[in-house]
Amino acid sequence: MCGIVGAIGERNITDVLIEGLRRLEYRGYDSAGLAVVHGGAIERERQPGKVQALADATHASGVSGQIGIAHTRWATHGAPTQDNAHPHQSGDIAVVHNGIIENYEALREQLQAEGYVFTSQTDTEVVPHLIQSELKKGGDFMAAVRRAVAQLHGAFALGIVRATEPQRLLAVRQGSPLVVGLGIGENFISSDQLALLPVTNRFIYLEEGDFIELKRDQVTIWDASGAVIARPSVELDATVHASSKGTYKHYMLKEIYEQPAAIQRTLAGRVSNGQVAIDAFGPQAAELLSKAKHVQILACGTSYHAGYVAKYWFEAIAGVSCHVEVASEFRYRTTVLPADTLLVTISQSGETADTLAALREVKSRALGSLCICNVPTSTLVRESDLAFITHAGPEIGVASTKAFTTQLVALMLLVLATGRRQGNLTAERERDIVAQLAGLPTLCDEVLAMDQAIERIAAEFGDKHHTLFLGRGAQYPVAMEGALKLKEISYIHAEAYPAGELKHGPLALVDQDMPVVAVAPKNDLIDKLKSNLQEVRARAGVLYVFADHAADVRAEPGIKVFSMPSVADEVAPILYTIPLQLLSYHVAVIKGTDVDQPRNLAKSVTVE
Ligand code: AGP
Repeated sequence: MCGIVGAIGERNITDVLIEGLRRLEYRGYDSAGLAVVHGGAIERERQPGKVQALADATHASGVSGQIGIAHTRWATHGAPTQDNAHPHQSGDIAVVHNGIIENYEALREQLQAEGYVFTSQTDTEVVPHLIQSELKKGGDFMAAVRRAVAQLHGAFALGIVRATEPQRLLAVRQGSPLVVGLGIGENFISSDQLALLPVTNRFIYLEEGDFIELKRDQVTIWDASGAVIARPSVELDATVHASSKGTYKHYMLKEIYEQPAAIQRTLAGRVSNGQVAIDAFGPQAAELLSKAKHVQILACGTSYHAGYVAKYWFEAIAGVSCHVEVASEFRYRTTVLPADTLLVTISQSGETADTLAALREVKSRALGSLCICNVPTSTLVRESDLAFITHAGPEIGVASTKAFTTQLVALMLLVLATGRRQGNLTAERERDIVAQLAGLPTLCDEVLAMDQAIERIAAEFGDKHHTLFLGRGAQYPVAMEGALKLKEISYIHAEAYPAGELKHGPLALVDQDMPVVAVAPKNDLIDKLKSNLQEVRARAGVLYVFADHAADVRAEPGIKVFSMPSVADEVAPILYTIPLQLLSYHVAVIKGTDVDQPRNLAKSVTVE
């Protein structure tokens, strides 16, 4: 999704801007641009495609300056062309924007009537013209920006420079992420602190409604009420956040392989003597978990799938009713929350617009809100009553992998804590499941050792157009996650079904050209699942089954079986996710797609 970098200093800041954009590439984008102030004028470079194209053009043209803004654009309004790339300009004003201006059409008509000429199809271009229009009415630069912002509807973050005022860079946070980076004699803004790690490890996390003025040696912030406010700065241990592919070909593969260590980090300090440390969810967690009569989970994409697995766990292990819904649906329908509902949001980034909006919409009606998130400094963490940080480490690949399995571990801890506080879980069962969680890193290593076998069969998917993923019970969301992984990085259409639903429609699709992938650990439903697999085989469907020895699924022509380690039923969804990640990865590599930055997708979906 769109990324913003801005800098003001004494040196030429174009390299800072471009390196910042490179570090935002993982978020997904399709064009890039920058604008600097030089000699009393705005100098701009914009290119469709990769940041490298922008870097080449910038170095060729020699654009340089001590203050500037830069942007990676993920197209929403208008195709990814040079004209639509940010920054957008109106006279001496240049603007970069993340988010959506919902009332841009009305503003565009109004500004056109005032004589402003538009050169792009974007919603963003109204912003510099509006600021210009307000400047003509009088007052200073910041006053004009304030009046302009007051007319904008939607969620956004803005970075703004003015050619005639090269001593200050203005910014606004109103619904989209933005942080300030503090340097020595230079200061920065970005939509993600990762972009600024080469230049600083000191950050100020902004609040919604903040206006910011950045000078070389001074940062001033006004809150939503217009009062100057001192927001605390936070010093990060930069080494913790550093991320490189190391010897791996892709971030996604690296992140798949990091899962044993990531799961260990999620558990570290959160369990002891066979019990979950309830305080790990926050000081009021014990009280909240005792009072909760219902759990409502809200999330998007992969995080939604994690929530879907947890729904099975909450009801089976903690004895508490649980609903799970995609945040983009929940936020816009009329909802009735049962009394004493604990709201649980799940998000890798903590910046997903729909999840945040759903939280804000429903929070006041819930008993309390708890988020499970990988980014401790994110908006979701700050706006939730309680937060549990997964400690998965930075996830760069757009396709979520270690974030998912660590979310599942976190959710199981929450389920155990809830079960205990509700009096529905014996100490023995809790101890047993805690031991299963502790054993997961070793089992994950065993599954990772299946990598080559999975790579070998991936070729059989390369020329297929459709795939079906099957699972039952808590393995159904695992199948959903497997299907999502395959479609997002290999562009092969994939659908997941609870295997019992096959005969109610999807069986009509099955033939020798439609591979069917099944997750089949030994559990109470294995015999039912095996009957469903026979239904597929009887229609010449080719099966790829991940099963443990006890499940006793026999390999035969048309049925390939991958032998999974034995694992307790409760934590099996965590383990069975990994071979499906590897399968998608290898199919994508065979198809030659951009594994880490698949087309049309963004890592952090900060617009709805
Ligand atoms: C997963 O592979 C996706 N890229 C996507 O579905 C993602 O999980 C979703 O956008 C939610 O993101 P979040 O966890 O950061 O909220």
